[in-house]
Amino acid sequence: MAQPRRRGGGGGHNKCPRPALLPAAALLLFLLAAVALLYVSPPPLTDHPALASSRRRSPHAPLLNSSGGGSTVVSEHSEISRVPISKEADGLWGSKFASRFYGCSNSSSRFLGSSVITQPDRYLMIVTSGGLNQQRTGIIDAVVAARILNATLVVPKLDQTSFWKDASNFSEIFDVDWFISNLSKDVKIVKELPEIGGKLRTPHRMRVPRKCTQRCYVNRVLPALLKKHVVRLTKFDYRLANRLDTDLQKLRCRVNYHGLRFTGLIEEMGEKLIQRMRERSKHFIALHLRFEPDMLAFSGCYYGGGEKERKELGAIRKRWKTLHAINPEKGRRQGRCPLTPEEVGLMLRALGYRNDVHIYVASGEIYGGARTLAPLKAFFPNLHTKETISSKEELAPFSKYSSRMAALDFIVCDGSDAFVTNNNGNMAKILAGRRRYFGHKRTIRPNAKRLYSLISNRRNMSWDSFSSRVRMVQKGFMGEPKELRPGRGEFHENPSTCICEKTVSKTVAKSNSQFEQVLSNDTERGIAIQTEQVSSNDTEMGIATSEPTVPDHTDEEAGESEADEDAPGEKEEIIDPEADDDVQFRLEDPELEGILSD
Ligand SMILES: *[C@@H]1O[C@H](CO)[C@@H](O)[C@H](O)[C@H]1NC(C)=O
Ligand SMILES: *[C@@H]1O[C@H](CO)[C@@H](O)[C@H](O)[C@H]1NC(C)=O
Ligand SMILES: *[C@@H]1O[C@H](CO)[C@@H](O)[C@H](O)[C@H]1NC(C)=O
Ligand SMILES: *[C@@H]1O[C@H](CO)[C@@H](O)[C@H](O)[C@H]1NC(C)=O
Ligand SMILES: *[C@@H]1O[C@H](CO)[C@@H](O)[C@H](O)[C@H]1NC(C)=O
Ligand SMILES: *[C@@H]1O[C@H](CO)[C@@H](O)[C@H](O)[C@H]1NC(C)=O
Ligand SMILES: *[C@@H]1O[C@H](CO)[C@@H](O)[C@H](O)[C@H]1NC(C)=O
Ligand SMILES: *[C@@H]1O[C@H](CO)[C@@H](O)[C@H](O)[C@H]1NC(C)=O
Repeated sequence: MAQPRRRGGGGGHNKCPRPALLPAAALLLFLLAAVALLYVSPPPLTDHPALASSRRRSPHAPLLNSSGGGSTVVSEHSEISRVPISKEADGLWGSKFASRFYGCSNSSSRFLGSSVITQPDRYLMIVTSGGLNQQRTGIIDAVVAARILNATLVVPKLDQTSFWKDASNFSEIFDVDWFISNLSKDVKIVKELPEIGGKLRTPHRMRVPRKCTQRCYVNRVLPALLKKHVVRLTKFDYRLANRLDTDLQKLRCRVNYHGLRFTGLIEEMGEKLIQRMRERSKHFIALHLRFEPDMLAFSGCYYGGGEKERKELGAIRKRWKTLHAINPEKGRRQGRCPLTPEEVGLMLRALGYRNDVHIYVASGEIYGGARTLAPLKAFFPNLHTKETISSKEELAPFSKYSSRMAALDFIVCDGSDAFVTNNNGNMAKILAGRRRYFGHKRTIRPNAKRLYSLISNRRNMSWDSFSSRVRMVQKGFMGEPKELRPGRGEFHENPSTCICEKTVSKTVAKSNSQFEQVLSNDTERGIAIQTEQVSSNDTEMGIATSEPTVPDHTDEEAGESEADEDAPGEKEEIIDPEADDDVQFRLEDPELEGILSD
């Protein structure tokens, strides 16, 4: 089971050689030599990103003990002295309105039991696609698809050949018996395809269009199911419409938030990690930092690493012929670039988190290693990862499997008091929705577009002014209740059908009148308060004053050669974050798709 892997355990690159990588590696080595000559005292080899990305077996441990590179960057990084350490702001660890809402995913009385609707000769099989979280959406949607078709679902087959290279099967990641029993009233699920009428049938393979509606399933899949009895849907990701009947949406939530849980082994280790963070401080932040070299290269953005970075990322970019030139400056302005660790640090300090906060960094391999993390570490010295708060032996059952490592990060991020992302990928979205469902736990997603101009002008203003403006632009991106209108965004990031509001008594209504007023105005999309005056006693963190538009920069669809794709012939990236929430990259290269499907 010694599979090459790309994250968590790290070290996937050189074990998965590609012809194009050899010249790239040669170029990088040459660059390294050139750079080393320029330095009076050359940086330690382990701190060099090119080596970090190919040789480091366990990326986290050396990352956080920043020898060499770290201290120089910190001293260059004099900005830290501008940042006052003040009293902790209110609302950092939760929304005061959260208690008025609760997750509600019970079915209505019209929703018949699976024993009534399941047809004995209809079996649905699916094969998921992508990284752990993209596969998760596929599994959830598969249960709903089986329900639509009155079919029995065979336990989904995981994608073991994606970019992330994890050979684990379903029952090694998820609690399969729980999955079957918890959902038994909704959909009949079996571990293996049984014989039908005394015969073992060969599944009829097909692929449904992306975002297939209920009617689309009935029109396209049902006829095959009636004829062949067993249908296997391949590459099953985003194959179900965002909008569905209420009862089907609630089923989606029951699967996502109750029926699908990790194996006992993974859950236990995840809880252990949470407990270790709690021993260190009362509250902790989990930061999902996507900063892998491949992803950065793909983004086409510039992250401040000078000519060296341009060359290194450029070399990686050459692997994909299908990649079009991207204007880094434009990408930034449009908010399509993941925040750098430094930018995340600035944002969090500006929001009022103190420097003594403990941060769990959930991440794969970080481009530039310790050097990249140093500015964040200057803002927040207490950085941890699963590798720094547990032993090698404890991690052994997980470390060779990218999905299990990702599952541990998922659990810690889910259990954190404040969850912060630098990106808008699948994990960020799924966790954002999950945290809404389970009580609107503080969830901070950068308003990258507006933060960008603020951050680039930050030296032009006082820290207080910068800080107020950051809080202003982050309104609507803080995980507050009703921040997003129902139906906006993908369902798993905004599961509005499954969030109910408690009936408000008169007195409560009165004391929250300001809240109501703000909420009632948030339907006017795109109104951004332009005033510079933000009261420093602003405790209403994150209530939407403008409709958040979070552009997708790591979520993608493959522009496959399917005639029935929703937008035939449209193979270019569609980049217009303002257009609507269906903004997606369309990629021609399955490997590119894999990188982004976390
Ligand atoms: C990192 O440094 C800390 C002290 O700063 C030390 O306790 C820890 O063992 C070091 N970890 C590694 C992996 O070197
Ligand atoms: C949902 O159903 C369960 C029983 O299946 C019940 O205990 C619970 O109170 C219900 N929740 C809501 C919000 O109605
Ligand atoms: C599934 O069963 C329900 C209830 O018997 C029925 O109303 C519905 O039309 C069936 N759908 C399909 C696709 O067979
Ligand atoms: C999953 O993997 C485990 C361990 O390799 C194995 O025991 C089990 O039979 C596999 N399950 C399926 C359904 O392939
Ligand atoms: C499914 O799991 C949830 C807990 O997440 C529980 O409340 C619910 O009762 C379970 N449903 C069934 C049918 O077992
Ligand atoms: C900073 O302020 C100066 C003077 O107020 C102005 O000329 C300059 O354009 C500002 N720079 C930016 C990047 O806004
Ligand atoms: C909401 O809108 C109303 C009228 O449209 C306005 O009077 C009120 O000041 C607005 N509230 C906020 C908080 O913007
Ligand atoms: C907030 O600040 C305003 C002035 O900026 C002041 O009038 C108000 O009393 C303050 N509110 C609280 C709760 O401190």
